Amino acid sequence: MAANLPNIIIAIDGHSSCGKSTVAREIARRLNYIFIDSGAMYRAVTLYCLRNAIIFNGIVDKQKLLTHLDAIKVYFQLNPQNQHNDIWLNGENVEDEIRLLEVSQHVSPVAAVAEVRHLLVSLQHEMGLAKGIVMDGRDIGTVVFPNAELKIFMTARADIRAQRRYDELTAKGEKVSYEEIMANVIERDRYDETREQSPLRKAPDAVVLDTSFMNREEQLEWVLNLVSKI
Ligand code: DC
Repeated sequence: MAANLPNIIIAIDGHSSCGKSTVAREIARRLNYIFIDSGAMYRAVTLYCLRNAIIFNGIVDKQKLLTHLDAIKVYFQLNPQNQHNDIWLNGENVEDEIRLLEVSQHVSPVAAVAEVRHLLVSLQHEMGLAKGIVMDGRDIGTVVFPNAELKIFMTARADIRAQRRYDELTAKGEKVSYEEIMANVIERDRYDETREQSPLRKAPDAVVLDTSFMNREEQLEWVLNLVSKI
């Protein structure tokens, strides 16, 4: 690893549940960088919508959401217990709640609202001002930081991603079936790739990392090897 690595921006985009956040968090830890999970920001807005009856029968009431936008304060705060940057929503740590399947099932239409994206992207720009940041998401290398010094596009087979997510949620005690997780993975891929606003795309200069048959340590080594060449 370059001992004198300058402060850079590392953008990690890709499909849902392919291990982006885990790799991004660990890379940030090793480089002493800040890690920002941009998906957590979209999830927090979705949680707000679910709690405030802005989503009804799976449909987002866009007009109502727009009237609430100023009242939605999403930010990260260091958790001294585990040194993670936890996501907060209006004064409440929602790091655990945003991972519930109910939030995953409603986040795509919320993330497709242009005004939500403008709000969150401007917050992300502020977070990247000083560089020294690893941010993961769907549009980080294409829209948020098109000039990022390193861009990685992560993917993995849908069935393998669904199995990993199923293992994660059941380990936390959530009662879910593999079939509904698989359906959610496929639906989110479709929605994220075909939406009008900042669809999920590989940036032309991003390097592809397929994690289907790689464990976490191998993924990490692969990324650190790229970083060492900067
Ligand atoms: O990475 P994740 O699965 O926690 O992201 C949750 C959702 O948020 C995902 O379905 C798409 C959306 N998202 C987005 O549109 N843009 C981002 N930069 C990050 C996430």
